[in-house]
Amino acid sequence: MSAAAAAATASVNRAAEVLRLPEDALPFLRHDRAEELTLEPGSLTCEAGVITGFDPDPAAALQIDASGCALLPGLVDCHTHLPFAGWRAGEYEMKVRGVSYEEIARQGGGIRASGRALAESSDADVLDQAAALADEMLQHGTTAFECKSGYGLSRQAELRALRLAESLGERVVQRTVSTGLLAHAVPDGFTADAWMDEVEAMLPEVVAGTGAQALDVYVESVAFSNEHLERMGRLAAANGLDLRAHVEQFNANRSVPVALEAGARSVDHLARLVTEDVVPLARAECAAVLLPGAEFLGDEALAPARALADAGAICVLATDANPGTSPVVSLPLVIGVAARRYGWSVREALLAVTLNAAWVLRMSDERGSLEPGKRADLVLLDGPADHVPYRFGHNPVACVVVGGELAYVRPDSAWRVRG
Ligand code: NIG
Ligand code: FE
Repeated sequence: MSAAAAAATASVNRAAEVLRLPEDALPFLRHDRAEELTLEPGSLTCEAGVITGFDPDPAAALQIDASGCALLPGLVDCHTHLPFAGWRAGEYEMKVRGVSYEEIARQGGGIRASGRALAESSDADVLDQAAALADEMLQHGTTAFECKSGYGLSRQAELRALRLAESLGERVVQRTVSTGLLAHAVPDGFTADAWMDEVEAMLPEVVAGTGAQALDVYVESVAFSNEHLERMGRLAAANGLDLRAHVEQFNANRSVPVALEAGARSVDHLARLVTEDVVPLARAECAAVLLPGAEFLGDEALAPARALADAGAICVLATDANPGTSPVVSLPLVIGVAARRYGWSVREALLAVTLNAAWVLRMSDERGSLEPGKRADLVLLDGPADHVPYRFGHNPVACVVVGGELAYVRPDSAWRVRG
C-alpha cells in the first residue's frame, strides 16, 4: 500500500458506545422516535474520508483506541452568527442587572453595536477572531456549522459579511454553510419596508456573488414584522434559497404559522411559542431550532421543547453563537442546558445536534450520522454519552476526526492515537 493510500484509512477501535440511527439514509428523524437511537459497543473504519464499516481494521494507517468512550458523528451547529467582530460583555452586565435586550437595542447597543464593530474591523481581524472561535468549536466537537451575515446593516456590508463567511469556510477544517440574515435590525435611515426593498435589490448580487444557501429574518418589536417574514419567504423561494427565521424569542408574535405558510426550512428560538402552534410545527417539514444558551443567558422564556419533541417535531439544538444573546460555542454545554431545562434525554439531545441539525443545512445526505458511505466526521468522547449533560461544563471531547483525518486530540488522550 502506498503511503498516501495508507494515510487515508482509519480504524476507531472498541468504543463503549457508538451512536447509530434505527435506519440508514434518513434525511431527519422526528423527535418522537429519538429513543430508537442506539449506543452499543463497537468500532468504525473509514477510507478516503468516508465511513466503510463497523469492524476494526488492524491494517488501517490511523488507529484510535476508543475503549471506555462514546463515538458520535461530528456535531453540527446549524445556527451561529459567525463571523462577527468583537464582543459586548458590557451589555451582558447591563442585562443581568435588569436592563432588557430591547431597551439596550433602543439605546443603540445590541445588533447596531456589532454592526459598528464590524465596519471598523479589517477583514483580517474579523477572520482571525472567527477562525479562533471555529477552532474552539472543533475542540468541542463541531465539525460543520452555519455562518450568518446580519451585522452589515448596509447592502455593501452585508455582501462583505457573506464574502467573509466564504473566506472563513476556506480557512477552517469544518464544513460551513452561509445564510444571508439580511433583515436583522432596521438600518439607520430606512424604514423596515424600505430596507426590505433594499434586500430585494441586493439579492441578485447575493445569489451570484456569495454562496448563501438561505435567507433569514428577525421578527421582533425592535426589528421586522410577520409581513416582512412573508416577503422574505417570497424572495427566498424566487431565488431558490431556503427560508429561516428568528421568531418568538422575546414576544409571541404568532410568526410560526406565517413561516410554515412561507415554506420555512427552520424556525429558530421559539421561547415564546404558543401552545396552539406546537402541533402544526411538529407536523410540518420544518425544523424547530432551539437555542437554550440564549434562553439561559438572556433569562428568556423556555421554548416548549418537551411538547415539541413529544409531538414529533424535527427538533434541533444550536449555540446561536453571537456577541449579544449567546456568546457560546460549545454544543456539549448547550446539550447540558437543554437536558436539564427541557427535560430531554441524552438521545433526544444528541439527535438534535447531529442528523436533524445536518438536515437544516441540507447536508444530512453526507453528515449527521454514522453509516457507511457518509463522511467520516467523528467525535470521540472521554466517557459515555450520558456524561455530556451530567458533567455540566466539562468538555467531554477527546478526539475529533474530520474527513477521516485526525483534526484534534486533547493532550490527555494522545495515547489513544497511533499512526
Ligand atoms: O439570535 N435576536 C436576534 N439575533 C441574534 C442576536 C444578535 C445580537 O444580539 O447580536 C439572536 O439572538
Ligand atoms: Fe440567532
